[in-house]
Amino acid sequence: MTEKKQDTLLQLIKKLVETPGPSGQEQKIRAAVREEIKGYADEIRTDALGNLIARVGSKKEGGMRVMVSAHIDEIGLMVTHVDDNGFARFLAVGGVSPFTCMGNRVIFMNGARGVIGMERLEPGKVPTLDQMYIDTGATSAKDSPVQVGDVCGFERPFMDLGKRLVAKSMDDRIAAVIAIEAMKQIKKTSPNEIYFVFSVQEEVGLRGATTAAYGVNPEVGIAVDVTGVGDTPKGFKLNVKLGNGPAVKVRDNSFIADPRVVKWMVNEAEAQGLPYQMEVLTFGGTDGRAIQMTREGVPAGCLSIGSRYIHSPSEMVDRDDVENSIKLLAGLLNNKIELGEL
Ligand code: CO
Ligand code: ZN
Repeated sequence: MTEKKQDTLLQLIKKLVETPGPSGQEQKIRAAVREEIKGYADEIRTDALGNLIARVGSKKEGGMRVMVSAHIDEIGLMVTHVDDNGFARFLAVGGVSPFTCMGNRVIFMNGARGVIGMERLEPGKVPTLDQMYIDTGATSAKDSPVQVGDVCGFERPFMDLGKRLVAKSMDDRIAAVIAIEAMKQIKKTSPNEIYFVFSVQEEVGLRGATTAAYGVNPEVGIAVDVTGVGDTPKGFKLNVKLGNGPAVKVRDNSFIADPRVVKWMVNEAEAQGLPYQMEVLTFGGTDGRAIQMTREGVPAGCLSIGSRYIHSPSEMVDRDDVENSIKLLAGLLNNKIELGEL
């Protein structure tokens, strides 16, 4: 990539990862993505759940209707109670760990900010979320800037470490970036009708992709999402490492990728001479499941980006993996798709 192209890519990543959008509150991030794609899609709509669906091209001889899904929601917190002193109790929106909460900063959709504090703990005990609270700086319930039902995301600026990039919402904004950049590279000669879905409410159970897949009615689908890695000290025993290329998902706890889709992805990576790695994830789930299980079933898989510290305020990905994922996805969509026999 040229330096100028890299700068634009980094600016797009920064813009998307810093826009708040916890599950169910995707208004701002949806508007930000729409702004980025408006010149590149033939049709853009938002469905009843809030999925942003952009069609590129229409089906030609030998082409397929393809759904690409990148979720635009992120994990967050929802206020359950505000006490007389203005301290707000909360529940988790998606998979939030108590380990990453203490001292963390949050931003509400109305712009209010706060920090997370914790009750006094018994020594050696692990805190639970219900022992924590958000301190918005309010001194009473009356002057609290947040009310029961209000939702916040974590607040942390994008950090460029050179080869490695860090943000609180690489899951899954980095996939939104990859989808947007691939969209820009779709050629007029592609026989496929491609639906780029920027899905909502993934972190609370793949809900957006479920209705989007029904509506799009794809013949094949690919989710794009981050995945866990096995390259940190005493970490998980996983094959995927940062910098070893886009990961081709074989399975996670939500679905088994269609073997034809796995092969299609591997063949494309090899045809382009891109590095790639096979992913068997021992936990987690993605929109791939929602696509696969819609209607009478759809061949589906997932292009994964290895990420350290998923669901923490400092999710880390590799810049080369991001660039190679864009190339892989664009290649998959630009060519005639031959899935072959099951
Ligand atoms: Co996630
Ligand atoms: Zn995700």
